[in-house]
Amino acid sequence: MASRPHVFIARRLPVIVESLLGDTCDLEVWPEDLPPSADILRAKIADCDGLVSLLTDRIDEPLLASAPKLKVVSNFAVGYNNIDIAAATRRGVLVGNTPNALDEATADTAVMLLLAASRRLLESATAAKGGRWKTWEPMGWIGQDLRGKTLGIVGMGRIGFATAQRLHRAWGMRVIYTKRTPSQEAEQLSGAKRVEMDELLRTSDFVSVHCSLNDETKGLFGSAAFGKMKPTAVFVNTSRGPVVDQVALAEALRSGKIFAAGLDVTDPEPLPPTHELFALPNCTIVPHIASATTWTRNEMGRICAENLLAGLRGDPMISCVNPEAKESR
Ligand code: DGY
Repeated sequence: MASRPHVFIARRLPVIVESLLGDTCDLEVWPEDLPPSADILRAKIADCDGLVSLLTDRIDEPLLASAPKLKVVSNFAVGYNNIDIAAATRRGVLVGNTPNALDEATADTAVMLLLAASRRLLESATAAKGGRWKTWEPMGWIGQDLRGKTLGIVGMGRIGFATAQRLHRAWGMRVIYTKRTPSQEAEQLSGAKRVEMDELLRTSDFVSVHCSLNDETKGLFGSAAFGKMKPTAVFVNTSRGPVVDQVALAEALRSGKIFAAGLDVTDPEPLPPTHELFALPNCTIVPHIASATTWTRNEMGRICAENLLAGLRGDPMISCVNPEAKESR
């Protein structure tokens, strides 16, 4: 009988992951709260057939080279910018991710941050708790209205669309967006209009970022972009931190080039508590929590485990980002 595949799971995950993998695989789970270092990860996967990785694990050429038996890397995330896909493909390593599972939770988070930043939630709640609530202030804590305003979605994929639907239906927002190819669904269901980036920046009251991180989108939001936005604009990022030049964002928030920002993602993560963005009252930052709901994390776990099992068996995975890797085996 063939021996059971060895699988390393790089953090404690929802129980469904071990339940699904445990019947057929020998598992080792990294038990710490913080991710394994690159050296530890290399040692742990040296003899593994499968790896369950997280967005905090850098899977690069040297790491892959140290794991000659590795067949599948199943990322517990929809994003896979932590993985060198070209290197994995060259080595015949299939890479899985978890799309769809986190669309709704991430769209909810984008709306939450948009509301929090628009209505100065963090700033006013901190003032109230800190004894600075002296009276009802007719001219205090004035924020931005949502009804009928223009929403700019940068990257109209599934999450961008789910965000647009919420804000279009509930607040009657007019939706404009950027995307390589038109989104018929967004145009039909949210009345969305595809525009150039320049127009989106100049005319949006709210800009919500949903593009993936790649060479084209790295630093997309720098001083030129913030300089084109309205002084009343609210900026929200639930995609990846490096899409934003944080020095430029801090300057835009400090100087009033834009009204406020809400960030689920930063660069680096965690952002040091001494970072200037934390000191700005008009910047709301949460620690990459967009997919942190019970159903979402369980569903991510299910897809992640099933991806790994299918890849090990040689069957089609629920979501594989480099199916062509099979050819290099
Ligand atoms: C992802 O899956 O890419 C999110 O950023 C974390 O859930």
